Amino acid sequence: MTVGLLGCGTVGQNVLRLLERRRGVFASMGVEVEVAGVLVRDLTRERDVPPGTPLRDDPAFLQECAVVIEALGGIEAPLALLSPYLRSGRPVITANKALLAERWDDLREHALAGRLYYEAAVMAGTPVIGPMSTVLRASTFIRLQAVLNGTCNYVLSQMEAGKPYADALAQAQALGYAEDPPTLDVGGFDTAHKLTVLARFCAHGDFPYSAVDIQGIEGVTLEHVQEAKAAGQRIKLVAELSPDGDGWHAQVAPQRLPMTHPLCNEGASRNALVYEGEECGPLIFAGGGAGGMVTASAMVGDLLDWVIGFPGHVPLH
Ligand code: NAP
Ligand code: HSE
Repeated sequence: MTVGLLGCGTVGQNVLRLLERRRGVFASMGVEVEVAGVLVRDLTRERDVPPGTPLRDDPAFLQECAVVIEALGGIEAPLALLSPYLRSGRPVITANKALLAERWDDLREHALAGRLYYEAAVMAGTPVIGPMSTVLRASTFIRLQAVLNGTCNYVLSQMEAGKPYADALAQAQALGYAEDPPTLDVGGFDTAHKLTVLARFCAHGDFPYSAVDIQGIEGVTLEHVQEAKAAGQRIKLVAELSPDGDGWHAQVAPQRLPMTHPLCNEGASRNALVYEGEECGPLIFAGGGAGGMVTASAMVGDLLDWVIGFPGHVPLH
């Protein structure tokens, strides 16, 4: 099976590592994975990749790939590479929630056809898109509330420990949690991208990114965080989707929550989501939401799903 990988940064390098580690699992299904090419911008950059990894700055190798894994980031560059590939009827695995949220018109038909796999795009390796696109469809969706950005979580938890905002953000970047640029994280836009993707499984299949009210954490000060702490509360950047008349209200904003709230977990980059369905009742998902290997685990999981014959993540029709 020829695989093309787009990007060899925090996520891409870990995808390569995990593909190596799971060779036996693929072999047990009669599949030998061959990485046909790994697209990067800078061929001279030092990388921690398996020996012999075919790094390329020309995407021509995509022609020979049976499946593509996208870990580039950005919107226009991945769209230009993926659109013709998807139109040829071949599958794509992506962690790119910005692309999914903002260029849905270009991707929708491929998602509906089951050619797009994107578990890693929301909460990284903590599975939420899988359950929402399968068993949870049988329940009537009521509302959801979630913490979906590891960078903001990290920054706010460091501020709770007394660290200044700028130092905490620089550390989150060094740990590989942040987007490029990090204003996508702290401005609330990354959380809004993820909320948009989720809304397409539980509210409306074409839920638009432009419908999300967005406020980030740039206005949150050390004093705000410490004040909340003294009151037994924690500030979190919270995404919410709830009924609003005949439609839905989607918003992202910092909120003070009691320490005992299910969204107030301790882990610095951890994400959490409380899903309420009429028949299934309240459900809590929590786990790692940012970082190279936790994201790679969902992407290689998607690849295994495709090999087994499961369709990609199909939104509401
Ligand atoms: P990253 O460390 O910045 O890596 C991006 C990679 O893509 C680099 O190897 C870069 O090449 C390559 N690249 C970017 N634009 C390119 C272009 N136009 N042509 C060729 N190569 C290009 O980013 P990342 O953290 O791995 O994130 C990748 C994607 O995963 C993003 O969509 C992000 O939102 C998503 N994601 C990230 C995480 C996380 O925790 N990091 C979690 C979930 C989802 P060079 O190395 O040569 O610069
Ligand atoms: N920048 C993102 C975050 C990466 O901090 O949550 C995971 O999507």
